[in-house]
Amino acid sequence: MTSIDSTIQRIRSGEAEGSACSPALADAPWTFDLLTPGYGPGSSMGDLIPTGSPRQGQLPEVYRTASNDELDARISAAKQTLGDRVVVLGHFYQRDEVLKYADFVGDSYQLANAALERPNAEAIVFCGVHFMAETADILSSPGQAVILPNLAAGCSMADMADIDSVTECWDQLTALFGTEPDASGRVPVIPVTYMNSSAALKGFCGDHGGIVCTSSNASAALDWAFERGQRVLFFPDQHLGRNTAKAMGVPLDRMPMWNPNKPLGGNGADELEDARVILWHGFCSVHKRFTVGQIESARAEFPGARVLVHPECPSGVVDAADAAGSTDFIGKEIAAATEPTTFAIGTEINMVNRLANQYPQHRIFSLDPVICPCSTMYRIHPGYLAWVLEALVDGDVLNRIVVADDVAVPARIALDRMLAARPGGSVARVIGD
Ligand code: 13P
Ligand code: SF4
Repeated sequence: MTSIDSTIQRIRSGEAEGSACSPALADAPWTFDLLTPGYGPGSSMGDLIPTGSPRQGQLPEVYRTASNDELDARISAAKQTLGDRVVVLGHFYQRDEVLKYADFVGDSYQLANAALERPNAEAIVFCGVHFMAETADILSSPGQAVILPNLAAGCSMADMADIDSVTECWDQLTALFGTEPDASGRVPVIPVTYMNSSAALKGFCGDHGGIVCTSSNASAALDWAFERGQRVLFFPDQHLGRNTAKAMGVPLDRMPMWNPNKPLGGNGADELEDARVILWHGFCSVHKRFTVGQIESARAEFPGARVLVHPECPSGVVDAADAAGSTDFIGKEIAAATEPTTFAIGTEINMVNRLANQYPQHRIFSLDPVICPCSTMYRIHPGYLAWVLEALVDGDVLNRIVVADDVAVPARIALDRMLAARPGGSVARVIGD
């Protein structure tokens, strides 16, 4: 089984063909921890990181210089010693070298639930990104410590909406619409935040009658919100909001975008009055790379190819695909195929590569020919995992993510609404359904 990291290393040494979006992807992630803040090489490398974003200090030398085999041995031994005292969670976008140690592997929604599964574990080591670790801290038992192996593993999309800009937006909308419900009891605006957001924004939703959603339950969350509000303010991902609402029949001209740098988000009062969903201007730099042209090329080269994309992709890409859904949905669609099939996939490359290795009976490839992992998911490396696990063996909790109660309590309300609103299906849109 060839991992993305080993392919990147082989491209660098000239042993393999192919191209990566940055030669620095072949360097160890700790190379970037001490540099000027940035998301690191990969899809988010062009995004501006907010000042004050968490940074990772220097990884001790023993972990920086250890061979892959040594790290494997250290991680296995530490996990063995810790036993049920620790649970390791891993998102599908993690590199294979890390994911093999996860006790639970899943999408954001599944991992939020997994955080509830082992209330007796002292520590939850979250191999994912910062907002996922925050969510795990909010949902887990009070005594449990949630650990993010590399503190620089944030999310450029989550960083595109901050609590001050969203509060300012909310104040403007409240000044425009007031807060009184209409004759059917629906308030003027309900806030809906994507899981990929700070705990502060989840708390904002809890405080203002709103809800959290993931890509696997966004339509259920929007249904929930439309029952209670005349309009939805959806943040931070414009694409998930647009794709989900469009699949539910909301016309595009009733989904204005909110630019926080302009008065009324750059809209007229009448456009906002008529809006069903007001979309924050955020996006995921991984999924922004996929284009309709790539889908056309895949179909031209492999007639009959089935194109599956994540709903964080732009709406033209989702429209041109055969189906769109969460990472778990994409995996399940492939698992369900009984005949050898060609799948062209629009989501993070570590997951696509893993599926290709897992299902050799199918042809599975990324729509994007350039290898460009999520910058921040890729900053978790076995070196950091070994470091935090061995510290736990010694009784030290490193890189703990703690959400203060004034945020965690309202955030939990918005998360509980999401957990209660989940329907059976996990599909944002499947053509033909
Ligand atoms: P899901 O795992 O919920 O599909 O989300 C994808 C993602 O972008 C996580 O950062
Ligand atoms: Fe954020 Fe996109 Fe990376 Fe997910 S894939 S962590 S949304 S940048």
